[in-house]
Amino acid sequence: MPYAVLQGLGTYLPTRRVTNDELAGLFDTSDEWITTRTGIKERCWAEPGQSTGDLATEAGRRALKSAGLDDGADVGLLVVATTTPDHPCPGTAPDVAARLGLANAAAYDISAVCSGFVYALEAAANAIQAGRVERALVIGAETYSTILSPNDRTTSVIFGDGAGAVVLSCGAADEPGRLLGFDLGSDGTGKDLIQIPAGGSRQRGSGLAAAEDDYYFTMQGKKVFAHAVHRMSDSSLALLKSVGWTPDQVGHLVGHQANLRILRAVAEQLGLDTDRAVTNIEKVGNTSAASIPLALADAAAAGAFQPGERMLLTAFGGGLTWGSAALTWPDITPV
Ligand code: UT7
Repeated sequence: MPYAVLQGLGTYLPTRRVTNDELAGLFDTSDEWITTRTGIKERCWAEPGQSTGDLATEAGRRALKSAGLDDGADVGLLVVATTTPDHPCPGTAPDVAARLGLANAAAYDISAVCSGFVYALEAAANAIQAGRVERALVIGAETYSTILSPNDRTTSVIFGDGAGAVVLSCGAADEPGRLLGFDLGSDGTGKDLIQIPAGGSRQRGSGLAAAEDDYYFTMQGKKVFAHAVHRMSDSSLALLKSVGWTPDQVGHLVGHQANLRILRAVAEQLGLDTDRAVTNIEKVGNTSAASIPLALADAAAAGAFQPGERMLLTAFGGGLTWGSAALTWPDITPV
């Protein structure tokens, strides 16, 4: 049986950095509120005209490079996880595949909001383990700055843009980088807690015009906070049980960077020291589907991980959706 192994990691952040102080000039907020409530100090927002597909293509190219590959490499599958596709139709992934020269690769988008990267990773790992493809590219990419309401200070101070990508390849069972298991779940009864109310068939099919703000991203933060802690903790514990690891065997926990307080609470629920919970939310904010690969790359570049150490990824997002992944860390250099 083939095994899916992480072979490369690449990221791309837009060059425009937006500080809390800059946002305090646009909204009724402050650096102090944002820092204490979320842990965020700054985030990147795309330049006008820069799309999710643009960020995804650059991150994908860098992941290929990290894996020792170039544009046009033999990649059978590309999955793009995003909440902010370039168009409602078609998907963003086929265009990204074409721009990376991945001729005839299967390519599709996954819409699982902030859990999207873990969902996409699972789909790609399954395709490799089923023997359908030998190599896959998984990209989480977002331009939340395009869906943030200029009237909503709560969401506007939290979300950032960016992209992160990994290359998965066929490998051996004992190879560092191997993906060992996943836990995915959803609870659609919470669909209203995170949503863009208008622009889909629910609103268009009603024949009713929507208010302008309904085309923007909305989140009921307090309720989402409680779900996020509970779902990421429970999913992580379920996955640890299924792969036969105890929490103290986990080298690093890489959680979706939703809020520093959420990341600390999840680590606490798992009985892990907070220094084993990777955080980079301070620099990039909540980048939704891009957040886990961006956090992985930052920590890996800082030399935080040892090849072979056991890693636990966990995410939670709109849907509601959640997912966790267990892997060992490979000997790679992020680009
Ligand atoms: O990525 C997908 C998953 N997302 C998450 O997991 C996010 C989960 N939620 C959160 O991270 C937090 O709930 C937020 C950061 C969104 C909000 O933090 P909070 O501690 O839950 O604040 P709150 O919503 O309870 O608001 C507290 C106060 C309110 O004022 P009053 O009613 O106490 O007078 C808000 O109006 O803070 C006010 N507030 C703000 N003040 C300054 C809300 N946003 C802001 C702001 N600046 N940007």
